[in-house]
Amino acid sequence: MPRMSRTAVLLLLIVSSSVFLLFQLYYYRKYVSKQPGPHLLNPAGHLTASHVQWQTVKKFLALAQHFKLPLFLADTAALSLLSQHALQQHDRLEREPPCSFLCTGRPFTSFAVYANLWKYDPGFLLAAEQKGFELLELRGEDPRLASLDTLSGEKIPLYFLFRLHSYVIQVVFLYERSGNYLWHGALRLKADMDRSFAPFKLLDYGRHAGAYDRPQVVLTVLDNLDVRVPRNVTLFLAEQRQARFLECRYRDARNFLQLYPDDSSAAAVDFRRKAKSLLHLAARTLSHLGVPFWLSSGTCLGWFRQCNIITYGRDVDIGIFIADFRSDMIAAFRDAGLSLKHKFGKVEDSLELSFLSDEVKLDIFFFYEEGDVVWNGGTQAKSGRKFKYIFPRFSLCWAELLELKVRVPCETLDYLMANYGTTWGVPVRSWDWKSSPSNVQENGVWPLAEWSELIQVY
Ligand SMILES: *[C@@H]1O[C@H](CO)[C@@H](O)[C@H](O)[C@H]1NC(C)=O
Repeated sequence: MPRMSRTAVLLLLIVSSSVFLLFQLYYYRKYVSKQPGPHLLNPAGHLTASHVQWQTVKKFLALAQHFKLPLFLADTAALSLLSQHALQQHDRLEREPPCSFLCTGRPFTSFAVYANLWKYDPGFLLAAEQKGFELLELRGEDPRLASLDTLSGEKIPLYFLFRLHSYVIQVVFLYERSGNYLWHGALRLKADMDRSFAPFKLLDYGRHAGAYDRPQVVLTVLDNLDVRVPRNVTLFLAEQRQARFLECRYRDARNFLQLYPDDSSAAAVDFRRKAKSLLHLAARTLSHLGVPFWLSSGTCLGWFRQCNIITYGRDVDIGIFIADFRSDMIAAFRDAGLSLKHKFGKVEDSLELSFLSDEVKLDIFFFYEEGDVVWNGGTQAKSGRKFKYIFPRFSLCWAELLELKVRVPCETLDYLMANYGTTWGVPVRSWDWKSSPSNVQENGVWPLAEWSELIQVY
């Protein structure tokens, strides 16, 4: 008898749990699956990491919308998925998992906000906290107020980090700078800040300051959420990879100018004005051609040492990698109103172009990469002698000079020391390009028969 009743109880249990299981299945199909948005339950019925990510982004976007935060998606992983998807669509290859773009598998998502279009609202942060977000706000000095005359002391918000369920939303503040570009600061933690708040080393933004052209953004629907994204995702991602920005060293420049006061004569002021407009013209022309350039020689030295053009230099010097040379370059400069003054060398060796505009010379030096060095050539017109200027390899960063966003070698000091030696900080007025540079080498003579082609002076 006890045996019988045990079997009966067991049967009863099996039946009731089966009924309950069926009910659960029914309930899930009828209600849970009808909820809007991705509902990523793993086979055990638990919320997946993707779901947490999606829910967090959704919560954040609702907040941002309520407080009219002018933001766009800047997350490199999500945008990469988006650009790949665009390519796939092109090939008519469509697959739509419920959270295709925002669930990147990373424990954070990055957004950028146009700081100039948003009035700082502490209510926003308060509301975020009420929604359960933990918050870290990082501030830094306002570079827009820094100049040779005043060093900024003003602090502005650079980053917001919102954390929910150990998932982080990074908000990058983009500020409008005088060279008509957007800037964000570097993310620097203070000693008393929580280093484990976010995976700081993995974040897309903050390792360095960055500079961007203002991207066109479009409102779209990603994974059932309204999100603004850069219109040209490929372009934005390419810019993001090379966005590192170097601030001019205003403090050092001020010290320099105390030792060596600026020439404020009418001629010097006039030269600066002309050099500025020439630099802007060159930047515009090369940008249309899609050719990157950087400040070289005396112009680079002026930026680094004085945050300005050196007035006794009498010219503007820029560098271009020979790989970026385009044969329509000369015509483009001519169309922009510059006249070719000389052309030395050839694409294969020591190419150098010099243009004239309003009495100021624009020297374009082409740089050749060779092993672990980079060099550019020089030619003496009357003798056909060749020279070679050797630099350590460098990468390119953004900087600002004369209200223009321009590139400079990131390793600026190494670059300048190669060229000017350890005394780069002392003005030298009598400069001989054939013998003064620390990195100049004799490089033979052009064959006489080729002079007419390789040494063109106008
Ligand atoms: C997006 O930018 C890339 C890189 O500059 C460019 O090649 C492409 O044509 C652009 N696409 C559109 C649709 O404008």
